[in-house]
This record gives sequence, C-alpha cells and structure tokens, in this order.
Amino acid sequence: MSNIFNFNAGPAVLPRDVLEQAQGELLDCAGAGISVLEMSHRSPEFIAIQEEAEANLRALLSIPDDYAVLFLQGGASQQFAMVALNLLHEGQCADYTNSGAWAKKAIAEAKRIGNINVIADTHDDRPARVPDPGRLQPTPGAAYLHITSNETISGAQWKSFPESEAPLVADMSSDILSREIDVTRFGIIYAGAQKNLGPSGLTVVIVRKDLAQAAPGDIPAIFRYQTHIDAGSMYNTPPCFGVYLLMLVTRWIEKRGGASAVQRINDEKAAKLYAAIDATDFYTGAAAREHRSTMNVTFNLPSEDLEKRFASEAAAAGLIGLKGHRSVGGLRASIYNAFPPEGVDALIAFMQDFEGQNG
Ligand SMILES: Cc1ncc(COP(=O)(O)O)c(C=O)c1O
Repeated sequence: MSNIFNFNAGPAVLPRDVLEQAQGELLDCAGAGISVLEMSHRSPEFIAIQEEAEANLRALLSIPDDYAVLFLQGGASQQFAMVALNLLHEGQCADYTNSGAWAKKAIAEAKRIGNINVIADTHDDRPARVPDPGRLQPTPGAAYLHITSNETISGAQWKSFPESEAPLVADMSSDILSREIDVTRFGIIYAGAQKNLGPSGLTVVIVRKDLAQAAPGDIPAIFRYQTHIDAGSMYNTPPCFGVYLLMLVTRWIEKRGGASAVQRINDEKAAKLYAAIDATDFYTGAAAREHRSTMNVTFNLPSEDLEKRFASEAAAAGLIGLKGHRSVGGLRASIYNAFPPEGVDALIAFMQDFEGQNG
C-alpha cells in the first residue's frame, strides 16, 4: 500500500480496487488472452465492456431511453465547441452563465460559432460563487442555457439548477456522478472522465436524442452528436482503455450503493474539511459558503509564502497535489468520489500541525 493521498484536480485519484483489478487483467482481459489495450474495439469482448459501461452509467444516473450516452475523445474542451455547433441554429442565440474559469472558456469557444448572451457573471467574485439559479433572466427563444456545474479551479458549485425553457446544458466535468441529479432536466450533460469516472482521454456525453437529430446539416461529421449516436460511439476508434476503466469505476460506485450513497460520503468528507477551515482564522475558504464545492475545496493561508510552504511540506508528508491552480493560487484539495475519507482526516491533522508551527 502506498502512503500517498492524492489531491490532484484531474487526472485524479482512482479507486485502488479498480487499479488492482485493471492490473490483474492487464495481460489477459475478459479471457481473451490479450490486453484491453490490444483488443479490437469491434471484438465481442470490447463490445461487452462498452455495453456494460453504458448500462452502468444509465443505471447510476437513471438515464432514460430518449437520451444517448456517448464515449468520445477530445475532452470537455471539445464539447465547448460541439455543444454550440449542434444546438445553435442560424439566427438564434444561446445563453451562458460565466461562473469561473471553465465557464469562461466554454463561452469563448461558443462565441467563435454563434451569438452568445452571458446572462449572469460571477467570474470575478471573491469569495468565489456561482450565479443564483432563481434570478437568471434567460433570453426569449435562446437555443440553450449553459452552466458549469462545478468550477474546478475556484471551488464554487451549483447546489441547485436553473429552471429553463431552453434545454439546459451542463459541463459536469468535475462533479458528474458525485451526487444525485435528475438527468431529465438537462438537454446535454458532458464531462471529461479524469476526475470522477476514469482516466483522461475519455469524454462522456449524455444528450437528448431529439436535440442531436435537429442539429444543423453543415457541421463536420466528427463533430455531430448524431454521427456518434448512429455509430454507437464507434465512428472512430473509441478510447478503449478509458471505457474499460469507466466500466470498473461504475461497478465500484454501484457496489458502494450508487449516487446517493456516494453523495452522502462526499458531503461528509467536504463538511469535515470545511469545518477544519472554519475552525480557525489561519485558514480562509476561497468560495462563498453556500456555493462551496464538495469536490474541490479551495482555501487560503495568511500569506503566499505560507501557502507555498504548506503545499511543499504537505507533499513531503505524502499529501500531494494541494497547490491551487496557477491562475488563482492558494490551496485546493480535490476530494473526488475515489478520494478516501482517511485522506481528509490526514489533511486535517496536517493543517492543525502546520498552524501550530506557523500560526
Ligand atoms: C469544469 C471543467 N470543464 C472543462 C475542463 C476541460 O477538460 P478537458 O481537459 O478534458 O478538455 C476541465 C478540466 O479540468 C474542467 O474542470
């Protein structure tokens, strides 16, 4: 067993059981006598893996049949473009909320494609927050409303979602499957897998089939959701190893009791850590209390110098990946589904110790 607790923001910690199973099967997957890394994506063995991955996701998130589940490449960043290419029709505009660094990137990309209205902007708010879902004023006739459900960098998270006549589109890269959601409230949900679902290189898209069908006809085939729906996510070679790991991760989540059980554990881990931050003036939470992320806990110390020392001394003690994103500084503890509660306890003990020596 390693003594490392991995607080990386993504790629991030994966369940130990999953890694051990992948290790055990690496040279002979599903009795095929070869590795999943060497298998044809059209082989019966791989098709069974992909079908189980999809079935597990559908069961865990109660995804209805009128939604497609796609396993794509290109990351959430490619979805910034694909969403607008597929949903934004000639003469229409789309509404976006600018809740932080990732929302801003989604907006910048969509602006290359069509007319975008930013209907709420909390990007520069400190402490970090997301817009109030009840106070949004959507543009009449907008093609869709885009939100970033969890801002991985600032640590601000939507706790409830806006009611919207236009399809709601969510970048859930950093909190998908970390809590229960009602998929039917969304037109599209997309997420890079590398935080809660598996390794980088795999992007999951959950898209309402009627929206995919209605996409403009002039977009390249590779960027059309319908292309990937028609081809069962095999229009081009899928990220096979990522799909395999997602299958194992979703099995692991099922075993733990599903999204509601995982949400309870995530809430407990986050509440403990925020309580430790709030217990003293030495630490300050970087996100507004009501928007504090259960996935990325961001906080500051009294000086940048102390923050640097905290991150490096923590790393020396086996608590790695705590340095905040380079654009905002501070510290960030990413405690995704697979992050063990003992790691939160270890961080809290380290925080108390560090304060004792430097406070
Ligand atoms: C909320 C959010 N959106 C989008 C991205 C970009 O994802 P990718 O690197 O998979 O394109 C990230 C990456 O960390 C993210 O956290």
